Formats: sequence, C-alpha cells, structure tokens
Amino acid sequence: MNTLQHDKYDAVIFDLDGVITDTARYHYLAWMRLANTQGVHFDEEFNEQLKGIDRMGSLERILMAATRQYSLAEKLALAEEKNAQYVSLISNMTPDDLLPGAVQALDSCRAAGMKVGLASVSKNAFTVLDKLGIMDKFDYVVDAAKLARGKPDPEIFLKAACALDALPARCLGVEDAVAGVASIKAAGMTAVGVGERSVLAQADFVIPGLACFDLNNY
Ligand code: BG6
Ligand code: MG
Repeated sequence: MNTLQHDKYDAVIFDLDGVITDTARYHYLAWMRLANTQGVHFDEEFNEQLKGIDRMGSLERILMAATRQYSLAEKLALAEEKNAQYVSLISNMTPDDLLPGAVQALDSCRAAGMKVGLASVSKNAFTVLDKLGIMDKFDYVVDAAKLARGKPDPEIFLKAACALDALPARCLGVEDAVAGVASIKAAGMTAVGVGERSVLAQADFVIPGLACFDLNNY
C-alpha cells in the first residue's frame, strides 16, 4: 500500500443504501407499489432520481406525477404506508446481505488509520446496520432524524466530518446516488461514486461496487 496517498484523507464517510447493502432495491420496490396505487408510472429511471432523497422528498416527487392534489394528512399516511412495506422487506436481513467487498472496504479504512463514518438519510439506517452486524465498524453514524436538510444539501456529510474531527477537504465520501455525490461535492470532499460513470457524472472516481474499493486509487 502507498502510505503517501493515504495521507490525503483522515476520514471516509459511506452511504448505506445501495453501497453497503442492496436496500436501494427494497426502497425501489416499496415506492413502486405506492406509485402504482396512486396511478403513477414508476420505473428504474424515475427511481434513479429518488436515490438518496429522504422519505417525504421522495413521496413529493412521486405525487407530482399524480393527477390530483394531496393533503398533508394523506401524504403522511402514504409515507407511513411505504415505510411499513420497507420495514417488512428489511425484516429478514442478515449479515449475508452485505454487498461484496463491503466489510473489506470498511476494514481497509480503519487499517489505514482513518476514521469511518456513515451518512445515510434513512431513518431505518440504525436498524439495517444492526441487522448487518456492522455497527462497530463505524466511528460515527449520522442520525437522519436530526437533520434539517437531506441530500443533495451538504449538511449530512459536514456533520459526519465534524463528528469525526476531520476537515472536509481531508474526507472521502462514497455514494451510489446522484443526490449523494452532489452532497459530497457541495461539502468540499472527494467523491467515490458506486455505479455507472454516465449516471454519477459529478463523482471524482467511479467504481462498480465496493469489491473494487481501493484507497490507493483515490
Ligand atoms: C436513502 C435512500 O438512503 O434513504 C432513499 O437512498 C430513501 O431511497 C431514504 O428514501 C430515506 O429512507 P427512510 O428509510 O428514512 O424512508
Ligand atoms: Mg444510497
């Protein structure tokens, strides 16, 4: 390993859904079901814009494509319905649901002397981390319930950097969502996108998955 390159960062801050585990798929299925009940066409392309966007923000985007207006009470009920479906989909998750290379990527950061953070806007993040059995691999996990603004606002990554005592310029952010990469860049950090370069155009580096995560390359 090239220690000179590791000197560039003090902390690595990971997104959860779609990076460490494939819960992005469960969010997609739950939103698809909700959209269908409201007569809104929903597909992978629509879903791409929702990745990294918080629950109410995602719902608003779906309902914008509906033919009628919704009251706040109706919106809250629909958000609750989606979450119940999502919670049921994640109920049987185990450490087997970690994506390939996820544990190795987290461990490689610690081994290189860096702090490890988690920046997910999901209010279910603590439950998912617990089911995956990886809570102890993080030095700090942002509590999404305490955020004023979701991604693409930089708040979540800046909050993680501050808690990890790292300057934003010395942080690496790892994200699968367009909004998440925008959040990392707005925070003044280096972004590793997980997915496709054509989608994650703003990322500094793009890898297909954490199995390809290598600190020597960033
Ligand atoms: C993000 C997902 O991590 O969390 C989004 O990418 C999701 O798809 C958001 O909407 C909020 O999750 P939750 O669990 O609070 O509804
Ligand atoms: Mg994600």
